[in-house]
Order: sequence, then structure tokens, then C-alpha cells
Amino acid sequence: PARPVVVQGAMNLEMQALVAALKNPKEITYGGWTFWQGTIGNLPVVVSRTEVGLTNAAAATTLAIEKFQPRAVINQGTAGGHDPALQRFDIVLGQKSIHFGKFKSNHADSGRGIHSENWIPENVKIRVNGQEKEYPGFAGDPELLKIAQGVAGTYTHGKIVSGVIGSADEWNRELDRIQWVHQKFQTSVEEMETASAAQVAAAYGVPFLGIRILSNSEPRNQDWDPKAGAYCQEYVLEVLKALDRAA
Ligand code: 5AD
Repeated sequence: PARPVVVQGAMNLEMQALVAALKNPKEITYGGWTFWQGTIGNLPVVVSRTEVGLTNAAAATTLAIEKFQPRAVINQGTAGGHDPALQRFDIVLGQKSIHFGKFKSNHADSGRGIHSENWIPENVKIRVNGQEKEYPGFAGDPELLKIAQGVAGTYTHGKIVSGVIGSADEWNRELDRIQWVHQKFQTSVEEMETASAAQVAAAYGVPFLGIRILSNSEPRNQDWDPKAGAYCQEYVLEVLKALDRAA
């Protein structure tokens, strides 16, 4: 049988519409992570609920790749705006995803305080085909990016841009912190899963793309709106249909 595309969402509101779009869905649970296997058009698709955060995303991606041998992994869902040019319901296609929570600090004596702006970012190391490799970030697959860009015209709730998706187990609301991360890493948005899923996909050599919608933007003073989860899935469904047509 043809290898499926795995589509990930952290929470029900970020993947339930995709499960509903599957023909003949079959639900499979491994440990704490559930997958729904089915088809969209003629395209075999596995929808994965990763649960929230980096560790959950890594575990769900490892399981997805080992159990379903996908030809591609798409991680999608909500995010918070870092780039003030973006607003709620705009969508970022991940040209790159990065971990923005991985730092070391230089020694400072007791009583000198906590200065996270002085912390030094560290690259991620993984082993690929037996070789240790260092990654300052994980590039989105160019073919997947092109296909996603090709259906940008179908999206009516905002604009679609290519950018940097930043991941950490953090929800930042301090504008100085957001601005610092944005300047240091050129992040378009922040969320809690994409770079982790991309890291595991890179270790296996599986093509990967992150697609993230702004559900909130602190720089634009826009609060979290649950409609974002549904809007993102509408667009991702168009991407899956385009993948089906291209197959
Ligand atoms: N910061 C961090 N994570 C966010 N998410 C949505 N907005 C933000 C934000 N501003 C996503 C994460 C996680 C859940 C809490 O929502 O990816 O899955």
C-alpha cells in the first residue's frame, strides 16, 4: 500500500476536523498517543493527536514514523505571533523551525540575578545515518512548501507567508521577551511542538513541513481565538487535496 502522509495536531480543536474529513477512519492508540488512519480522496492519511509540548510531539512523531512509515509529516495548529507584521488568523509556512528554549549561560556569582537575555543559544544534535549532526534549525521540505504555497489562494481568513516557527515549552506574553526571541531567532510565531517533530523527522530523513496559524498575538494585542484551529485545518485540508492531485 502507498505510504501515508501524517498530519499532526496537538489538541482536539486542532485536528478533529481533519479526522472528520477521513474516509473509513480507523482509530489506533499507542501509549498516550492516538492516530486515525484513513484516506482523503485517494491519498492515505494518518491524523495524529500529539498532545501539547515538545516531549509529546517527539514521542508522537517517533511512533508515527515507526508504525506508519509515512512519506511526509505535516505538523499544524495554533501559534502566538512574534512578528508584529502578522496578525491573528495569518498562517506561517515553516521555511524553518527552531528550538528557542535551548540555552547555556556563562558563570555568574551568587546574587548577580537572572539575565535570560545573556543566555547563549545552543544547536540541537542528532544522529543521522550514524553520523552526529548539529542543527541550528530544521528546514521545511521544499516540495511540500511549494504545494502548500500553491493553494494559498484558497485561504480567506488572512494572509499566508513563509517564515520561522519557534518551539519551546513556553507561552510568552512579556513583549520584551517576545521581541528578544524574534530578533535573536527571526521567529514569526511561537508554539510548543513543531521543531521537536521536525527534529525526529530529520533523524529519520522523512520530509517535513510545519503549518501554523496565529491564534493570538501579544505584539498586536490579540487574544487567543479558538476559531484559529478550525481555519488552519480548512487550509491544511486544501494542502492534502493538492498532495492527492500531485500523487
Ligand atoms: N505560545 C505558545 N504556544 C502556543 N500555542 C498557541 N499559541 C501559543 C503561544 N502564544 C499552542 C502550542 C500548544 C498549545 C498551548 O497551543 O503549540 O500546543
